[in-house]
Amino acid sequence: MEQEHLPIVLPLLDRMRLEPEDNVLDVGCGAGWLVRLLSEQLPEGRVVGVDLADEMIRRARRNNTDLENAMFVIGEAEEIPWDANFFTHAISVEAAYYWPDPRAALREIHRVLREGGSAWMLINYYRENAHAHQWGNILSVPAHLRSAAEWAAFFAEAGFSGVKHERIPDPTPAPEKYEGPWFRDSAQLRAFRQEGALLVWGTKPKT
Ligand SMILES: C[S@@+](CC[C@H](N)C(=O)[O-])C[C@H]1O[C@@H](n2cnc3c(N)ncnc32)[C@H](O)[C@@H]1O
Repeated sequence: MEQEHLPIVLPLLDRMRLEPEDNVLDVGCGAGWLVRLLSEQLPEGRVVGVDLADEMIRRARRNNTDLENAMFVIGEAEEIPWDANFFTHAISVEAAYYWPDPRAALREIHRVLREGGSAWMLINYYRENAHAHQWGNILSVPAHLRSAAEWAAFFAEAGFSGVKHERIPDPTPAPEKYEGPWFRDSAQLRAFRQEGALLVWGTKPKT
């Protein structure tokens, strides 16, 4: 997924302003490409990828045996197998619309973050981008279509402050001809990328 997600993830990493000693959690890390990228940026920190699919975690471990500051654990966003108050940042890319209970997942992310830490969620399947709505009928696991305002409310309910959202357009040019299953045609893929991914973020307040 690296090739598809990198153009929207790079602007997100810019906004996160990571420091070399930060500890970052990637929720729904898949095969671990983003954990690898983060671990290279955080030589004095720790990066942990969590995913509920044991096959994904096996692949992530196999692909990243050379990383000394990264690890991969099997677990659900709704029950993260990690101690409280550890991470400075949590990130989740193209995974949150699968969460069966987003309130529980965001409470868990809030729990494992340090005070002053921040959570960053990036998704392409959300209410305002109609060019992805058809995915709901194609995906093999249930995906939940929610608006930016609904996501922001989940963040606030979980205890995050300063919750904001914005769109990150994907500047990748669409091919002249599109024959994949996700879009009607090349024009729809172009429109989807122009609408952009939804980024929602918030901070765990200091008490
Ligand atoms: C579309 S993939 C994205 C993977 C990766 N973030 C990327 O950008 O390539 C979604 C991932 O989220 C994981 N996932 C879905 N629901 C989850 C949950 N409730 N808890 C943890 N992981 C979950 C899936 O197993 C899958 O690996």
